[in-house]
Order: sequence, then C-alpha cells, then structure tokens
Amino acid sequence: MLKSVKALDILEIRQKLLRPTGTLENCIFPEDNDISTIHFASYLQQNITSIVSLINSPFPHKPSSNDWQIRAMATLPEYRKMGYATSLLEQCILHSTSKQSNTLWCNARRHAVSFYQKFGFVMIGEEFNISDVGPHFLMKFSPKDKS
Ligand SMILES: CC(C)(COP(=O)(O)OP(=O)(O)OC[C@H]1O[C@@H](n2cnc3c(N)ncnc32)[C@H](O)[C@@H]1OP(=O)(O)O)[C@@H](O)C(=O)NCCC(=O)NCCS
Repeated sequence: MLKSVKALDILEIRQKLLRPTGTLENCIFPEDNDISTIHFASYLQQNITSIVSLINSPFPHKPSSNDWQIRAMATLPEYRKMGYATSLLEQCILHSTSKQSNTLWCNARRHAVSFYQKFGFVMIGEEFNISDVGPHFLMKFSPKDKS
C-alpha cells in the first residue's frame, strides 16, 4: 500500500538510510512542509518499506517554476528488490504529470543511476560530489515521446 504521509513520519528512515552519519536535523529539507511538497511511503502491513519526497524545485540546468524534484528515495534493506521504489517512482511520475510539470528531476547517487534510467531518466552533465554523501548525477525524466 502506498500513502501520502507527513515529513515527520519518514524523517527517521530518511536519516537512517540516507544520512547514517548525520543527525535528524541534517535530514530536514527546507521545503519539507511546503504546501506543494508531497511525501510518499510504501507500506507492508503497518511497516514502512520505502520513502520518497517530491518537491516543487527548479531544475538546475533549465529552471522553471513548475519543475519537480525527487528527493530522498530509499527502501529499507530488507525490502529491496521487491518493487517498492518502483511504485514510489511511478507515483512521482504520475503526480508531476498531473501538475503538467516542465521537468521532473533528481540528483541520483551513482549506484542508483541505472534504477532511474529504467524509467526514462537521463543523465545531464558530469558527475558531481555531494559532501558527506558521495558521487551524484543530475538526471531528468525524459520519456521517449517527450524531449
Ligand atoms: C535505489 C533503491 C531506492 C531501490 O529501491 P528498491 O525498492 O529495491 O527498488 P525496486 O525493488 O523497485 O527496484 C530495484 C531493482 O530490483 C528489481 N526488482 C524489482 N522488483 C523485483 C522482484 N520482484 N524481484 C527481483 N527484482 C526486482 C528492479 O528491476 C530493480 O533492478 P535494478 O537493481 O537492476 O535497478 C534502494 O536500493 C535504496 O534504498 N538504496 C539506498 C538509498 C539510495 O541510494 N537511494 C537513492 C538515492 S538517489
């Protein structure tokens, strides 16, 4: 089951999986409580399996006011390779499409690039480093029928 949740409901998982050496405070995004921001969680019974946040944020390469950034996508290790992140990503694509988004984008960790590519995301530019996190690529959703 997939639900829209509050930032507070997923903060601990975000910290544990994406900033294990950081603090909970490090994991709060300034946009977390914006009215436009949406947080999705997948559940197996009562347990969260996977999380993601979708933020109205300009695409760095070609900014517009109707760009949407996927942030903090993560699945708990015991639930990986079961399709949970896939369903969250599909939900993000649906949501941004319903908003007639100009660009859906993310900063993908190097190891997650192939995951996003399967859904039609393409890499833009060179690899860059996010301190304390590691190498990333800017990626944008570019389905075959859209440039
Ligand atoms: C990247 C990440 C979010 C993927 O989560 P996930 O829930 O395992 O993703 P899915 O199960 O939807 O798909 C992952 C893979 O499993 C495969 N898969 C999906 N369902 C499957 C099934 N039933 N059986 C076997 N494999 C399956 C998918 O094809 C995909 O293949 P890939 O590894 O070649 O890309 C997860 O590995 C993660 O949390 N990593 C650490 C945090 C992170 O780096 N997040 C990304 C930040 S940019």
